[in-house]
Amino acid sequence: MPDKIDEMLMRKEKIYAGGGEKKIEKQHNQGKLTARERLSLLFDEDSFVETGMFVKHRCADFGMEKIQASAEGVVTGYGTVDGRLVFAYAQDFTVLGGSLGEMHAKKISELMDKALKMGAPIIGLNDSGGARIQEGVDALSGYGKIFYRNTISSGVIPQISVIMGPCAGGAVYSPAITDFIFMVDKTSQMFITGPQVIKTVTGENISAEELGGANTHNSVSGVAHFISADDKSCMEDLKRLLSFLPSNNMETPPVYETGDTPNRTDESLNTIVPENPNKSYDMKNIITNLADNGEFLEVQQYYAKNIITGFVRINGQSIGVIANQPSVLAGCLDINASDKACRFIRTCDSFNVPILNLVDVPGFLPGTAQEFGGIIRHGAKMLFAYSEATVPKVTLIVRKAYGGAYLGMCSKELGADVVLAWPNAEIAVMGPDGAANIIFKKDIQEAENSAEVRSEKISEYREKFSNPYVAAARGYIDDVIEPAVTRVRLASAFEMLSGKRESRPAKKHGNLPV
Ligand code: HXC
Repeated sequence: MPDKIDEMLMRKEKIYAGGGEKKIEKQHNQGKLTARERLSLLFDEDSFVETGMFVKHRCADFGMEKIQASAEGVVTGYGTVDGRLVFAYAQDFTVLGGSLGEMHAKKISELMDKALKMGAPIIGLNDSGGARIQEGVDALSGYGKIFYRNTISSGVIPQISVIMGPCAGGAVYSPAITDFIFMVDKTSQMFITGPQVIKTVTGENISAEELGGANTHNSVSGVAHFISADDKSCMEDLKRLLSFLPSNNMETPPVYETGDTPNRTDESLNTIVPENPNKSYDMKNIITNLADNGEFLEVQQYYAKNIITGFVRINGQSIGVIANQPSVLAGCLDINASDKACRFIRTCDSFNVPILNLVDVPGFLPGTAQEFGGIIRHGAKMLFAYSEATVPKVTLIVRKAYGGAYLGMCSKELGADVVLAWPNAEIAVMGPDGAANIIFKKDIQEAENSAEVRSEKISEYREKFSNPYVAAARGYIDDVIEPAVTRVRLASAFEMLSGKRESRPAKKHGNLPV
């Protein structure tokens, strides 16, 4: 027996060595950690249990029969993160470039099945050259099995992808199906076809970083949700995100003792919005003011900045915030903002995270680029997502709530459970300037002093509709509140809604406009 134990330990030692010293050194020199180093940063100390360490590929083509791929190029297993069960796999770039073959995919698929059965989040640390070229169609089949499982698990357990190296070809599609994508700055890339293929086909010259680096996907394409400075901070960022999410769709997110009283009032909120309705301000200051200890985890911070999405805690409870940003495009909704908000609303609803909407929206962005780009179907996603969501929904009208965008930011009709407004709120079909120009067009044109009449008519319209009291008189708004007490009122609303139950007619699934 002692011999057998020695042999077992020796075998394990070899597997732990991954692709060997040279390749590990190359990985480190590129500013990247190895798969095992990353996992040890993610999991609570000594909690990680590796699965399928001895799995081997079955490929005998192109010299593969002579290649021993440690752990088949992917380390899989489970453990605890902040005391909660989490499953994870980490592709090992030092072993055949982390490429995905039949058995590599089998390890990931088995892990995904276990995570789903156990109702625990699954994290994928991706660092791979994509489909293992030597394995041909077996590699493609492996990807297919993963995509299928990603889809079946969607909305049941949180699935988080972390891109920590190249991620080419089909390898990008599993992350794209998951709930969140992290990318590490400068060392990760995602693309369907790389720079060389692009050059051949379209003649464009572009570097891998420009084409699919963390900045590109966080600010231009909207594919990624987070950017981290390096591997180590990425694991910390990931843990922070997990703290806002439940382990599965049957649970509610963990509640933390934050030490910030829900009864905190703040007079500065009474003057945070400028008197002049055309002046902008930073909505993030309001969000952090309302959040426990001012903590806000922004999601897709650099994409479609005219809308803000992210997580806060109020009285320790995880809350998803969707807010217009008046300092970007005046807070108008456009195609990208609608996509960003829709995805976030559905993520919150999937995982029982209540939603807070902070509204200051002058409307949908006008223009041919928006109309030709399909703002109608994109904007419709927000209406759909809010109406579909059954989690507690609280809407606060901070300033402007005009037209379709008022509905699009979750009015009562779309299922908001509580709607509050600040006294300076303006709820109308459109802004007073535009409205007066249309309904008083004749009066203005015919008047000798048309500028004066125009300004009078604008004031008349503003007085009539640009306040919260007409909407409140119809019951579209539950209360008009002093801004200073907003946190108290929100905490009370979410507390009241904590046992909310709402069901929908049985169906296979809704047909979200895409
Ligand atoms: C097999 C691969 C591999 C792959 C890399 N390697 N990619 N082996 N299949 N897909 C191996 C290399 O041969 C090398 O082995 C080692 O990994 C490290 O690779 P390098 O090229 O030396 O590293 P680097 O210079 O850092 O470049 C990394 C890279 C490049 C940018 C990822 O390797 C690359 O372009 N790989 C191919 C990417 C790709 O086109 N993949 C297929 C996509 S198609 P040795 O033994 O020399 O160390 C696809 C279809 C799926 O994925 C569709 C599903 C729907």
